[in-house]
Amino acid sequence: MSAIGQIALHVTDADRAEAFYLDFAAGVTFALRLAGEQDIPALSALIPLSVRSLQAAHYSTAQMDAALGPVFGVDRELIRDGTYFVVEHGRVLAGCGGWSRRRSLFGGDAGRAAAEAELLDPVHDPARIRAFFVHPDYARRGIGRRIMHACEQAIADAQFRSIELVATLAGEPLYAAFSYDAVERYELPLAGGLMLPVVRMAKRLQGPGLDQANPTRLPAGMSGFRRRLRP
Ligand SMILES: CC(C)(COP(=O)(O)OP(=O)(O)OC[C@H]1O[C@@H](n2cnc3c(N)ncnc32)[C@H](O)[C@@H]1OP(=O)(O)O)[C@@H](O)C(=O)NCCC(=O)NCCS
Repeated sequence: MSAIGQIALHVTDADRAEAFYLDFAAGVTFALRLAGEQDIPALSALIPLSVRSLQAAHYSTAQMDAALGPVFGVDRELIRDGTYFVVEHGRVLAGCGGWSRRRSLFGGDAGRAAAEAELLDPVHDPARIRAFFVHPDYARRGIGRRIMHACEQAIADAQFRSIELVATLAGEPLYAAFSYDAVERYELPLAGGLMLPVVRMAKRLQGPGLDQANPTRLPAGMSGFRRRLRP
C-alpha cells in the first residue's frame, strides 16, 4: 500500500486550484498546483539539482553538463499552456512535471523550431508527458507518481487516446510503473560529440477516461487546473 494518503482538499477558485495531500508516513503535507511564470526561477534551480543527483547513476558529469539547457531545461510553453505542475512542501519546490498537447517531446523552449510547437490532434496523435524533475531530498516519496496521475487525468480529459514520452534512464522506472512500454532505445546527440541514451515510451489510454483503478484520482473539477494567479 502506498504511504501517500489522499486528503483531497481542494480548491478555492479555479485560478487558485491546488490539491493538497498528506504523506502519512512522514506527516508532511504537499501541495500540487499548476506552475506559473513566478515559478521559473525556482524551476531553473531545481532542474540541475535534480539532474546532477538523481541521474548520476546513469550518466556521466559531462553528459549531464551537456544536456542541461538543451535537453533538461524550463519549458515556458508548458507553463503558458497550463499543462505543467509543481509540488511544494511549504515554500520548497519539491518536484515538477507536466504534459503537452504540442509536438515537442523534450527540452527547454530556448531555440525551439516552430514545428515543434505545433498542436497535436487528440484523435490521431499521442499527448506528451514532459519534464519531470524531483528534488533529491524528496525522491521516492511519491511526488513523481502524484504528478503523473494529474497529467494522465488531464490528458484523458483533453480526449487524447494515447501518450508518448522520451524518458531518461533515471525516469524509465517511474513510467514503467505507470504501464508505459519502451518502444525504442536511442541516443540523443549532445554538444562535444557526446550522446545521451534515452528511451521512447508509449501507452494507450483505456476507454474514455483514465485508468479507473487510479486510487489518487483528483476530485471532480480539479483536473481542469488553470494557471494560479497569485505570486
Ligand atoms: C524520475 C523521477 C521524476 C521520479 O520521481 P520520484 O518522485 O522519486 O518517483 P516516485 O517516488 O513517485 O516513484 C513512483 C514509482 O516509480 C518507480 N521509481 C521511481 N524512481 C525509481 C528508482 N530510482 N528506482 C526504481 N524505481 C523507481 C517505482 O515504481 C516507484 O514506486 P515505489 O516507490 O512505490 O516503488 C526522479 O527520479 C527524478 O527527478 N529524476 C531526475 C530527473 C529525470 O531524469 N527525470 C525524468 C525525465 S524523463
